[in-house]
Amino acid sequence: MDLTVLFKLTYGLYVVGAFDGTRPVGCTINTCFQVTSENPTVAISLNKQNYTLEAIRKHNRFSLSIIAEESDTMVIGKFGFFSSRDTDKYADFGYTPCNGAPLVNGTFAGRLILDAINYVDCGTHVLVVAKVLDTVPGTGTPMTYDYYHRVVKGRAPKTAPTYAGD
Ligand SMILES: Cc1cc2nc3c(=O)[nH]c(=O)nc-3n(C[C@H](O)[C@H](O)[C@H](O)COP(=O)(O)O)c2cc1C
Repeated sequence: MDLTVLFKLTYGLYVVGAFDGTRPVGCTINTCFQVTSENPTVAISLNKQNYTLEAIRKHNRFSLSIIAEESDTMVIGKFGFFSSRDTDKYADFGYTPCNGAPLVNGTFAGRLILDAINYVDCGTHVLVVAKVLDTVPGTGTPMTYDYYHRVVKGRAPKTAPTYAGD
């Protein structure tokens, strides 16, 4: 099977944010898609090792910030290559609480406030299906995963569902 065909699938880039009870935590993801439009829901894929998944499971509430080409690219690395288990990822950027979820400060194409309504076990990852509770409009051009690789020259860690080696 030619697995490189999977490279032709397209994605955006997002920061997921949640409170773990005491602290704001979160991670970078490229996997998010809208599932339904009436009573809108989206789905994201989170690695079982990610602390963010543990935090979301506690309260179900989380945020999704849609990364723009104009966003600070440092956010992608800080949220994507460190774990909230031992790092305060918000220290450099600050955050604004919104409906029980942290929004990392900065320029983003838009934000979603979400409630997880279903967790689907997919082996190494869990598909989190979530209801859209509220939206916050933003500015800028949504960054695609392709733009991240080609223009930002970014990488993805092994925990990303689309990891294909360095
Ligand atoms: C570009 C990029 C895309 C990523 N996509 C995902 C993803 O879709 N799902 C996922 O679980 N992790 C993804 N990751 C990896 C997580 O962001 C990373 O494992 C993070 O350290 C988890 O932090 P946490 O332990 O605080 O949750 C991605 C990372 C990068 C840099």
